[in-house]
Amino acid sequence: MPSMLARRDFLALSGGAIAAISRLRPFSASPAYPSAHKFQSLLRIPSLLRPTQSDETTDYYEIEQRQASLEILPGRQTTIWGYQGMFPGPTIKTRQSRRTVIRHTNKLDVPTVVHLHGGATPSDSDGFPTDLILPGRQKTYSYPNDRAATLWYHDHAMDHTGLNIFMGLAGMYIVEGQEERQLPLPRGEYDVPLVLQDRLFSADGALLYRPDPVDGPATDVTLINGTTWPRFDVSACRYRFRILNASNARSFRLALSSRQQFVQIATDGGLLAAPCVAQEIPLAMAERVEVIVDFSVYPLNTTVTVDDQNASLAERSLLQFNVVRKVKDDSEIPDRLAEISAIVPSRATQRRSFVFTRADSSHSETRWSINGKEFDAARAIAEVSANDIELWRLANHTFREKHNVVHPVHLHLANFQILKRNGKPPAPYESGLKDTAALNVGDEVEIAVRFPGYKGKYLFHCHNLEHEDRGMMARFDVH
Ligand code: C2O
Ligand code: CU
Ligand code: CU
Repeated sequence: MPSMLARRDFLALSGGAIAAISRLRPFSASPAYPSAHKFQSLLRIPSLLRPTQSDETTDYYEIEQRQASLEILPGRQTTIWGYQGMFPGPTIKTRQSRRTVIRHTNKLDVPTVVHLHGGATPSDSDGFPTDLILPGRQKTYSYPNDRAATLWYHDHAMDHTGLNIFMGLAGMYIVEGQEERQLPLPRGEYDVPLVLQDRLFSADGALLYRPDPVDGPATDVTLINGTTWPRFDVSACRYRFRILNASNARSFRLALSSRQQFVQIATDGGLLAAPCVAQEIPLAMAERVEVIVDFSVYPLNTTVTVDDQNASLAERSLLQFNVVRKVKDDSEIPDRLAEISAIVPSRATQRRSFVFTRADSSHSETRWSINGKEFDAARAIAEVSANDIELWRLANHTFREKHNVVHPVHLHLANFQILKRNGKPPAPYESGLKDTAALNVGDEVEIAVRFPGYKGKYLFHCHNLEHEDRGMMARFDVH
């Protein structure tokens, strides 16, 4: 069987890659990042990918997945695997309902798969984990872009997503809505992506992937847009930040050091109906949030940091803003942002329940399961009807661990609304449309899911990549 062969090659190749990176000396107690280096490097903004061709309906792109050597840590070279050799990949920006056709060429030594996270995509372009692009081969993905939101594209290769994303295969993908263009929100240089990823490096700058099957990779530094502890010199006006947690296994709880509140305008699924304010925003793996921060409230030369309230005091500040100039600000935050067509739970045709736990397995290493089953690409655990609404109950029953084990549950294809989190209505930060819901130990979340019209095989899974790679994933089929 060709697919078995492909898979065996795949394991051999990736095994080699793991061995190659773990032979390097790990980096001890972070001497490479003396505090003097903090907030010296300027925040990088990933460049926009240009289409190679456009017509009335479609933009065509070419992406090479290749190895590159970049200066991520000051004075050191790091080998990454990147879309166009970039870390993170280039940002793709398009408009709702314009089609995007992207031809990927795999110039790496490992098979890859590309998934557009948050998109409603026909099954053959959705990046099923066994739909591999073998080294030297190409695959063309086609995206209808039905949904306006901040999405991201990333690797999804069976059993190796954790390594492939850790090495750099992830980028932001922005779909601008029709009505959104009319809103007076900050745009251009005031509309800024922030891709958060934690990593571990060896003393000479190599990325070290040391995954723990429960807690994910060991890491000691957070990168924002591929920059360690960046500084961003801002004007005294409003900015829109599109924040993506692209980490393998780390949850953040974001806050501003000045205690200024974020004005949140969007969730995973796009703009909220109306803005809301939040002092702190929890952001589990794969979740996105969009916020407005108004720097005109600060005198010039004020510094403000974005902090992770989950981190120890010494590690807390991730990014520093420095208010450097005054400008005239034409932006506004409108009271109404978008017309959301609410997912009506009373129209649901089906109820389902999924429990996320360790797998009972004979493996020496921890494996993970959904309803007691590990991922099987050949078996769907739910059959759903296109255009239906369903009520799903998601529960994290991972009680045996010493500490909280978060399972951010992600559905491909369908957006959902959180109806209840542990019996209560959801907090404002997660009351918009979502594609990922964080489950802390013991959490039970009820969601109303709306399936669009596409048919075929899709996935839902935990977005802790080390859990996903070890069984916590399931196929569902749409008929
Ligand atoms: Cu972001 Cu199935 O993944
Ligand atoms: Cu997805
Ligand atoms: Cu998990």
